[in-house]
Amino acid sequence: MKFCELLEKRKSIRTYTNAPIEKEKLDKIIEAAFSAPSAGNLQAYKILIVKNEKIKKALYYACLEQNSILSAQIILVFCTDKEQSAKKYGTRGENLYCLQDATIAAAYAQLEITNLGLGSVWIGAFEDKKVAEILKIESGKIPIAIIPIGYPVENEKARERIRKAKNEMVKEF
Ligand SMILES: Cc1cc2nc3c(=O)[nH]c(=O)nc-3n(C[C@H](O)[C@H](O)[C@H](O)COP(=O)(O)O)c2cc1C
Repeated sequence: MKFCELLEKRKSIRTYTNAPIEKEKLDKIIEAAFSAPSAGNLQAYKILIVKNEKIKKALYYACLEQNSILSAQIILVFCTDKEQSAKKYGTRGENLYCLQDATIAAAYAQLEITNLGLGSVWIGAFEDKKVAEILKIESGKIPIAIIPIGYPVENEKARERIRKAKNEMVKEF
């Protein structure tokens, strides 16, 4: 798929079929995340892969009962590793770089998910503490993005893309 087609195709998909996700595809998604740039190449993040139904159900409640979580075949949870970033970059690493590292990795993963014919949505509305408890995330790591994945239910593909006008968003100097 051409890059411009990929950008056009990537849309939030919130309902998935029951078809399982092939292991090779999951591996490619993780590789895509790892291919993202990161400050000092530290990759100051962790990716948790959730397949277990009981854990999914618990995450569903921690994510304000968003159905995309229940519908997903696999859920990726991206966590910052602020200690790692802080060791090299101090407060800038702790407050900014590890967040950026994790965010870019998640965005790359979403593009590869689309490239592989799968769908996903970025879930940002969740209770951090509950998610950390469910997944036994250590205190130095903070979940910042939850990405449910599955094969898209067909009718979600057709949705129109709405964006702000360029002149509202961009300023030239
Ligand atoms: C930081 C962030 C948080 C988001 N949180 C949620 C969420 O909790 N639930 C949800 O269904 N979508 C969530 N989204 C997805 C957005 O609603 C979606 O990306 C936006 O409406 C644009 O639509 P598109 O992804 O189809 O282009 C989030 C996206 C981002 C980047």
